Amino acid sequence: MTSRWEEFYATHLPPSDFEDNRSLLKEFCDRHNKLAKRIVLITSGGTTVPLEHNTVRFVDNFSAGNRGAASAEYFLDHDYCVIFLYRQKSLEPFTRHFSGQRLLDMLDIHSTSGNTTISVKPDSVDILEPVLENYKAAREGGKILYITFTTLSDYFWLLRASCECLRVFKERALLYLAAAVSDFYIPPSEIPTHKIQSSLGGPSIQLQLVPKLLAPLVDSWVPHAFIVSFKLETDESILIQKGREALNRYKHKLVICNMLQSRRQRVVFVSLENSIEIALTKEQLLNGIEIEDSIVENVIANHDQFLTSS
Ligand code: PMT
Repeated sequence: MTSRWEEFYATHLPPSDFEDNRSLLKEFCDRHNKLAKRIVLITSGGTTVPLEHNTVRFVDNFSAGNRGAASAEYFLDHDYCVIFLYRQKSLEPFTRHFSGQRLLDMLDIHSTSGNTTISVKPDSVDILEPVLENYKAAREGGKILYITFTTLSDYFWLLRASCECLRVFKERALLYLAAAVSDFYIPPSEIPTHKIQSSLGGPSIQLQLVPKLLAPLVDSWVPHAFIVSFKLETDESILIQKGREALNRYKHKLVICNMLQSRRQRVVFVSLENSIEIALTKEQLLNGIEIEDSIVENVIANHDQFLTSS
C-alpha cells in the first residue's frame, strides 16, 4: 500500500529547476564528504499552498526566516558546511543584517570630474566588515549552498533530494528543520487552473492534511543522521507536550520548542531524557546577543555526543 507521503509525490510535479538543484546538491555533498566534513541541512522560512494553478492567491505559513539564517552563520563558525534550503525572499545568512534600506544608508557616493565612486561611510565600516569577511570566507570557500523553495510541493521535492545526497555523510549529517511547513493543502486535481473569479461569490475551499515528512526522513531517507525538528505553538500550556509527542512519534533526536511571541528570547530543548530551557535576559537582547548562538552551540554538543556514542 502506498503511504500518504508517497501519494503526495505521485500527484505533485517537481519544480522546473529541480534537476539543476539536484546536481548542485550532489556536487556540494560529494566535495565535502571527501573532506570528511560535518554537514548541516537547515530548512528555513514558510511554504505556500497555491489556490490556483496559475497562482495569484496562495495560503502562506508564518516565518521570517531569521532562525534559519542566523543559525547558518553560527554553524559556519563551528566549521560545519551548510545546505541552506529556504523560502525565496525570506531572510538569508549575512544579508539579513542589512535588510530594508540599511545597506544603502551605509554608503556614500562621490562624483568628481565625471568619475563616480561609492564608499562605505567611515562609521559603518566596523558593522559591515566582520559580516562581509565571514560572508566571503563562506562563499569563496564553497562552504554554503543556497537552495530556494516557494510552495509546499517544491519543499517536498527539494528536501527529499537533499536527503538523498546527504546520506553519504551518515552520522556526520545534521538536519535542522526550522522551516514552517504548511499543515494543510489542496490536492492538485481540486485546484482551478485560472484565477478564482470573485464575481462567482466566495469560494468554499476544502483543505487536506499534509503528510509529515519526519517519518520517512527518520525511517529511510537519512536513518543515520542527527535530526532536530522545531515545534512552534501559541499556547504555552501544550508546547512541551507537543514537542514530546513529536519525539515519541517520529523517534528522532531532539525537538526545539518555541512560542511565537517569545521565540527570540526562549526555547526548550526536548529530548528523550529531559527538557532544557535556553533563555536570554533583557540585557543580552539589548546588547544584540542572538539566541541562535546558544541554540547552535547546544545542538552541536548533542551532535558531538551522538557521534561519540555511535
Ligand atoms: O523564521 P522565524 O520568524 O525566525 O521563526 C522561526 C520559527 C518559529 C518558524 C521556527 O523556530 C520554528 O518553530 N519552526 C517550526 C514551525 C512549525 O510550525 O513546525 P510544524 O509543527 O509545522 O512542524 C514540526 C516539524 O515537522 C518541523 O520541524 C517541520 O520541519 C517538520 N515537518 C512539518 C511538516 C511536514 N509536512 N513535514 C515535516 O517534517
